[in-house]
Amino acid sequence: MWNEKFEQTLVLIKPDALKNSLTGYVLSQLSEFHSGLRFAGAKIVYVGRMLAEEHYAEHKGKVFYPSLLEYIMGILHYAEEPWKRRTIALMYQGPGAVQKIRDICGPTNPHVARENKPGCIRSLGTLVPLKDDGGNVVGERMDNLIHASASDSDAEREIKLWFKPTDIPPFMRPYPTEVSQEHYCFKDNRLFTDHEPGSISLLAPGDIAWKSDMDILRSLQKGGSSRESTLETVAAKYLINVSEEA
Ligand code: RTP
Ligand code: MG
Repeated sequence: MWNEKFEQTLVLIKPDALKNSLTGYVLSQLSEFHSGLRFAGAKIVYVGRMLAEEHYAEHKGKVFYPSLLEYIMGILHYAEEPWKRRTIALMYQGPGAVQKIRDICGPTNPHVARENKPGCIRSLGTLVPLKDDGGNVVGERMDNLIHASASDSDAEREIKLWFKPTDIPPFMRPYPTEVSQEHYCFKDNRLFTDHEPGSISLLAPGDIAWKSDMDILRSLQKGGSSRESTLETVAAKYLINVSEEA
């Protein structure tokens, strides 16, 4: 069900929040009592490289990008305990959702957060220096406990990246959906519509998908491609908690 009047946002409780046992604290800060917003989706996600790269695509090429990927994948906070690597993905819905959650999170940089907005969630974060092979400091990583969508268009891209329509109750689904009429399978970063041994099924006939994902798959089938319509954009969410490598 597509309901245009709702506003929604994606929240990620990042691995540093999990490691520091701050999940309950974050959830209570974001609760309906404080935020006036409702949960519309929640899942515990093993974040593979494909999903991490898609989520942080805007930061590709920056000095902190490789470290940012390892951070959201849980590699940095659970280096010796891969079985603990996970992130909690949440979708919140209600009036002013994007700005309300950003306000509760506070500034991106935890030092700035402590200075300018004591008590916000990110004031509990840390800054980690990044060094090159010679040990010189080349930048910093901001371990800031939580991600929140920055705009309505980011929220749409991110919610569609992390959640399938069926992860969300029917009347809370914010974007148009479509029923797949075909099999779509994934193997070695390629799309198949016929049976391919060793492939992972993304969609089967009768499955509900985001309409925009169906448009991307149909375009890829016809040989089309663009930055906005890569196979990974669609495949990443179907590989969540399916494949360790994804
Ligand atoms: P987020 O996406 O996580 O909600 O954070 P944000 O909008 O406040 O900040 P954004 O610019 O989107 O950055 C995403 C994440 O990258 C890390 N970052 N490090 N060293 C730096 O200059 C820097 N800038 C960003 C942070 O972990 C930030 O949350
Ligand atoms: Mg951001």
